[in-house]
Amino acid sequence: MNKVDYLRISLIDRCNFRCRYCVPDDAELQYLLTPELLTNDEIVTLLREVFIPTGFRKFRLTGGEPLLRPNLVELVAAIAQLPEVEDLSMTTNAFLLENLAADLYEAGLNRLNISLDSLNQETFDQIIGNYGKSRWEPTWRGILAAYDAGFNPLKLNVVVIPGVNDHEVLDLAALTLERNWHVRFIEFMPIGNGELFDERTWIPSEELRQRIRKKWGLTEGQIQGNGPADVFQIPGAKGTVGFISQMSECFCDRCNRMRLSADGWLRPCLLNESDQIDLKSALRSNVSTEVLRDKVKYLLEIKPDVNFKLRDMGTDQGQYSRTMSQIGG
Ligand code: GTP
Ligand code: 5AD
Ligand code: SF4
Repeated sequence: MNKVDYLRISLIDRCNFRCRYCVPDDAELQYLLTPELLTNDEIVTLLREVFIPTGFRKFRLTGGEPLLRPNLVELVAAIAQLPEVEDLSMTTNAFLLENLAADLYEAGLNRLNISLDSLNQETFDQIIGNYGKSRWEPTWRGILAAYDAGFNPLKLNVVVIPGVNDHEVLDLAALTLERNWHVRFIEFMPIGNGELFDERTWIPSEELRQRIRKKWGLTEGQIQGNGPADVFQIPGAKGTVGFISQMSECFCDRCNRMRLSADGWLRPCLLNESDQIDLKSALRSNVSTEVLRDKVKYLLEIKPDVNFKLRDMGTDQGQYSRTMSQIGG
C-alpha cells in the first residue's frame, strides 16, 4: 500500500481568477465566512498534534488562491519552523506574487507551483476570465519574482484544452530550454466545469509528448516532487517537462495525499465528499488531540477503498458540490 504522507491544505476557498476549466461559467459561488476558516493557530496545532504524529511530512498550501489568505507569511513561517516538516510548498496563480515572493521564501516556503495556461495575453484572459485589464503581465511578473527570490524547483502548470491552448504546447515547453523552469502539462479533469468536458476536452499526455519528441527529442528526467507527474527533458534543456495524466493513466491507485479544506474538513481523496471528517468542529469543541489522531488514522485505513477512480468517471458532474477551485486543485 502507498504511504500517505502528503497533505494539501486549502487556506481559503476564494480565488481572484475564474478559470474556465475550474469554475462553471454560470456559477454563483457561496464562499466561507472568515469565522468558518481554520485560523493560523488551528492549522499549526493540527499539523503539530495530529498530522505529523500520524506520519505526514510534506505539506502543500493551496486555495482557491492561497495568496488571498490574510497573514499568509506568518503562517508559512510557523509551519516551516516545525522540525518534522520535510517539504513545504504552495500552488498559486501568481497574480499577487510579485510583492510576496521574497517574503514567502524568507519565511521558509520551499517550492512554488504556478498555473500558467498561455503565453498569449488574449488566450490567457479568455481562460482566466476578463477583468477589464489583462492579468497576464502581473502574473508573468509574479513568476519572475518567484524565480528571482530563489524558488527552486519552480514549476509551471498548464491545463491543456484542445482548441484553446494546445497549439502553445511547444512554446510552453520551450520555456524549459533556457531557464531552469519545469513545465507540466495537465490533462483536463471533468470536474469544476462539467460543461466544458466532452471526449475532445482532454488530450492524452502521450500525444503531447510525441509533438515535443518530434521537434526536439525527449529523454527521461527527474525533479523533486510529491505529485504524480511523469518527468522528461528536452535534450540540453535547463528545465524539465512533466505530464500529469490522470485521465489517460489514472494514478488513483498510488495516491499519497489527503486534503484539508479551508473550513477544516479532512478528505481522503479529491473527489470523495462522503467520507470526509470535520476536524475544525472537533478541535473547537475541545475533543482531545488523541481522538483527532484516531480519526485521521481511520481515514488513512479506509483511504485505499474510498479513493475515487478517475478512470471510472462519467461526464455527469452534478454530484460535486465544490468546484476544483474551492477544493484546492
Ligand atoms: P509536486 O509536489 O510538485 O509534484 O506537486 P503536485 O503536482 O502534487 O501539485 P500541484 O498543486 O501542482 O498539482 C498539479 C495538478 O495535479 C493539479 O492541478 C491537479 O490537476 C493534479 N492533482 C493534484 N492532486 C491531485 C489528486 O489528488 N488527484 C488528482 N486526480 N489530481 C491531482
Ligand atoms: N483539471 C485539471 N487541473 C485542474 N486545475 C483546476 N481545475 C482543473 C481541472 N478541471 C488545476 C490548475 C492548477 C491546480 C490548482 O489545479 O491548473 O494547476
Ligand atoms: Fe484558476 Fe486556480 Fe483559481 Fe481555479 S483556483 S480559478 S485553477 S487560479
